[in-house]
Amino acid sequence: MSLWGGRFDEAPDEALWRFTVSHADRRMLADDLRGSVAHVRMLGRQGILPAAEVDAILAGLEAIQAEAQAGAFVFLPTDEDLHSAVERRLGEIVGEAAGRLHTGRSRNDQVCLDLRLYLRRAGGERIAQLRAFAALLADQAEAAGDRLAACYTHLQQAQAIPFAHHLLAYAWMLLRDADRFADALARMNVSPLGAGAAAGSSLPLDPAATAAELGFAGAFQNSLDAVADRDFAAEYAFCCAQTMTHLSRLAEELVLWATTEFGWASYADAFTTGSSALPQKKNPDIAELARGRTARVTGQLVTLLGIQKGLPLAYNRDLQEDKEALFDADDCLSGALDALGGMLATADFHPPPPSPWTVALDLAEILVARGLPFRQAHHAVGQLVRRLQADGRTPADLSAAELAAAHPLYQVADAARLDPATSVAARRVPGGASMDAVRAQIGRLRSILAEAPPPTKAPPRSEVP
Ligand code: ARG
Repeated sequence: MSLWGGRFDEAPDEALWRFTVSHADRRMLADDLRGSVAHVRMLGRQGILPAAEVDAILAGLEAIQAEAQAGAFVFLPTDEDLHSAVERRLGEIVGEAAGRLHTGRSRNDQVCLDLRLYLRRAGGERIAQLRAFAALLADQAEAAGDRLAACYTHLQQAQAIPFAHHLLAYAWMLLRDADRFADALARMNVSPLGAGAAAGSSLPLDPAATAAELGFAGAFQNSLDAVADRDFAAEYAFCCAQTMTHLSRLAEELVLWATTEFGWASYADAFTTGSSALPQKKNPDIAELARGRTARVTGQLVTLLGIQKGLPLAYNRDLQEDKEALFDADDCLSGALDALGGMLATADFHPPPPSPWTVALDLAEILVARGLPFRQAHHAVGQLVRRLQADGRTPADLSAAELAAAHPLYQVADAARLDPATSVAARRVPGGASMDAVRAQIGRLRSILAEAPPPTKAPPRSEVP
């Protein structure tokens, strides 16, 4: 049964019903009920509904809440959406009083209220997951100790680094993602309730009071904007897409590292899969699917932008499509953080030592430290590289005397710098790839993770009265 039969002679066609009905909003049931409770209480306080009706409706909403918690709340095929299902069930429980719940409200302000409440909860969970993931990276970085690896540019070995430094790079990305979620949640923390269908109401509603009761920083400034706005949904999806993109980069490396050719990592049996055809295989499917689902999440972000792009103000039914896109993006992210986190926590990393060539920049910097312009130092080391390569040798094969002969500014003692470990020890830049800097990073990371999660800041001034 629709909520709007009054002006229609004909019942909805089955094709219309099939095409327009969506129960994708069912996961917002708890939020919908919470919003209704605040709305009905406000109607009572404002003298719009008599106390007896308010009490009856509240008791009914509570009963529905209990059903929801018990997993016993049932959607019927005749329910157009979540809001219709709740109103129908309320009528079954409390009778005629249910017809007063929607006083001064429209599904247009109701649905975006629900979505904001839902995303506030989901975003809090995502922030917690991201912080847990960053802690896992810090654990693995600590476990790596002072083991060295090569870092790459253009997927060619570039410089020697503590392997921990590489893992920690991802921790900083994910902490920024957590901050981005917190920023998005702060911006969306504005209640649209009271905007009604489009222009508000002639009834003496109190949007500020419902906003406060629901923990929002304030109420809407413009009712048309309130019901038509989905930038908060797109922003949330962007947070998901950017985080997935970071995870996808990590996933790509986890796949690469497990190859025979790299041989940098082994993963627990419980977090890898086998091949139905090739008995020897142990596949990093979690990482591959995280990488693949990143495309899907990016697609959902594009969907959310596309839905809004050509919409005249204010509410249009196109907006119903926001939920599937948003929930799918969020689910993909949540699942990827769980599965990839398990894979990472149980991984054994054993990168081989960096190639002897990774000391080339350090050899040039020895000359720079003694006054040679960098370009000349680069050229001198380039020529040394060329000679060594022509002889099928590497810097590891250079004797102290040979190095000293390679440029007048070299000294015999510089031969110690031919060892990548000495190069790493000589690094000085804060945040660079030295063991000291890595220890400092882990310390900083741990202290950030020990603090309370990023606060939900007040929304921008444009949003608060
Ligand atoms: N199910 C709808 C949605 O998700 C709720 C709002 C419906 N409003 C309307 N005027 N038909 O957007």
